[in-house]
Amino acid sequence: MTAPTLTPAARPTAPAALRAEHLSRIYPSGDGQVQALAPFTHTFPPGLTAVVGPSGSGKSTLLNLLAGFDTPTTGHVLIGDTDLTALDEAARADVRLAHYGFVFQNHNLVSILTAQENVEFPLTLAGMPPRERQARARELLAQVGLEQRGGHLPSQLSGGEAQRVAIARALARDPGILLADEPTGNLDTRTGERILTLLQQSAGAGRTVVLITHDPDIAALADQRLHVRDGVVTPD
Ligand SMILES: Nc1ncnc2c1ncn2[C@@H]1O[C@H](COP(=O)(O)OP(=O)(O)OP(=O)(O)O)[C@@H](O)[C@H]1O
Ligand SMILES: [Mg+2]
Repeated sequence: MTAPTLTPAARPTAPAALRAEHLSRIYPSGDGQVQALAPFTHTFPPGLTAVVGPSGSGKSTLLNLLAGFDTPTTGHVLIGDTDLTALDEAARADVRLAHYGFVFQNHNLVSILTAQENVEFPLTLAGMPPRERQARARELLAQVGLEQRGGHLPSQLSGGEAQRVAIARALARDPGILLADEPTGNLDTRTGERILTLLQQSAGAGRTVVLITHDPDIAALADQRLHVRDGVVTPD
């Protein structure tokens, strides 16, 4: 099984610098509080950054803040010159569509759409004409090695195949930033390595890829690592 290769067509059009400034998150917990993320400042360079740490350390909290899914207690998330944290939800959604792709532990594919239709979905939202988006989705599925699976529903795909469709969908709009929360968590080692290869290729194409993992062996293969422990983030 040869690893699929991302062609230059998958290169992002507008890489955007991702920066966290004094970013922190405190959650209420019973009568008290949990400091899920201590104040953290970092510029994410193009390439693959692994965020590694034990369960409950704050990895998803960080990713959700970087994505603008959650609002920080202090600090800012900057995409180029745009302060994500200063925007309302509608404007944040626009920034996400323009700059981000997401891959989650459970692929989150739409169960009633085929693999091909799932990859087309963000292109439909972007108003791309049917013929163009069908061709683009086919090309993306081929890049993740699934040109034969376009007509399958998610329930007819293996876990690794579904995750590769999710990556194709995440790359559909050529995002400059790809955020992945435990995308290899449910997969066997070989399949997980294949997903990692695709993320490395995405990063090699100039994207800023942030990969959350609790697996030090996977983190070791990234360009850089951020270690999270009890909400404190420390670079290598
Ligand atoms: N919405 C919330 N409300 C209250 N506490 C929360 C909330 N989300 C997360 N936490 C707490 O914040 C801490 C960090 O959680 P987080 O989900 O970021 O961990 P994680 O490193 O992603 O863990 P895992 O590897 O298990 O996914 C945990 O103590 C968790 O219980
Ligand atoms: Mg998590």
